[in-house]
Amino acid sequence: MTPDAPLLETVRQWLAAARQVAVLTGAGVSAESGVPTFRDAQTGFWARYRPEDMATEQGFRAQPALVWRWYQHRRAMLQGVQPNAGHHALAAYARQHPGRLTLITQNVDGLHQRAGSPGVLCLHGDLMADRFLDPPRPCCHPDTVEAGEPPHCPRCGNLLRPGVVWFGEALPLPVLDAAQQAARTCQLMLVVGTAGAVYPAAGLAHLARAGGARVAIVNPQASELDGVAHAVLRGTAAAVLPLLLAPAA
Ligand code: OAD
Repeated sequence: MTPDAPLLETVRQWLAAARQVAVLTGAGVSAESGVPTFRDAQTGFWARYRPEDMATEQGFRAQPALVWRWYQHRRAMLQGVQPNAGHHALAAYARQHPGRLTLITQNVDGLHQRAGSPGVLCLHGDLMADRFLDPPRPCCHPDTVEAGEPPHCPRCGNLLRPGVVWFGEALPLPVLDAAQQAARTCQLMLVVGTAGAVYPAAGLAHLARAGGARVAIVNPQASELDGVAHAVLRGTAAAVLPLLLAPAA
């Protein structure tokens, strides 16, 4: 599915005219790499699991082994996937236009970084990182944890948890600040592959619009941000981003 050519050309013109471009990505940008999204019916994680069980501190404390195994499964899955044409198009654009594009992602899969995008603002953390669940005591060292599900400090039992942001938790403040600044000051925001259901990430599109930027969406389905956008490009990230971001012929 590719969007109609005149609309694509209009967004390309907005892009050419923009001094600063902000891009907000979500799980959909990695779908064509084989990473499941969260909210797609049938295939999304939240069709099979309850977010309150798998993506909250309370859920982890209630069933640490179950939740740890789910994150280990997601980590293992990442070993077998590669960035797709959408990730590569964003990285190539940043290389060709240094300092012009700020890439903000809700994804924790590292695929933008693996494609070579510089300075990615990761709002929801990093799936491959660990940290301690409770504030680390002097005995807590990531290097000396005892194996287990989850691994834990052998002295005090403090559990390791994945370094992602769970529901009810604050986003990393410097990252959110930088993302909000980019949203407020850009002339074009591209919103790619997100349902737009989770805040404060989705609020970045509202901030961009309020700051006078054009907002364009790339998504094969309707999203909760369609009403904020000046243009909705109906198509997948791997199909549309290369067309949108390729240098003019
Ligand atoms: P969702 O799963 O909520 O939404 C994925 C979006 O991607 C949907 O709008 C799909 O239509 C779209 N999509 C599917 N395939 C696509 C493709 N090939 N190209 C472009 N778009 C496609 O994922 P997010 O909006 O990223 O948070 O979810 C936001 C947050 O909710 C996640 O970061 C995660 C989740 O719970 C936490 O875990 C804290």
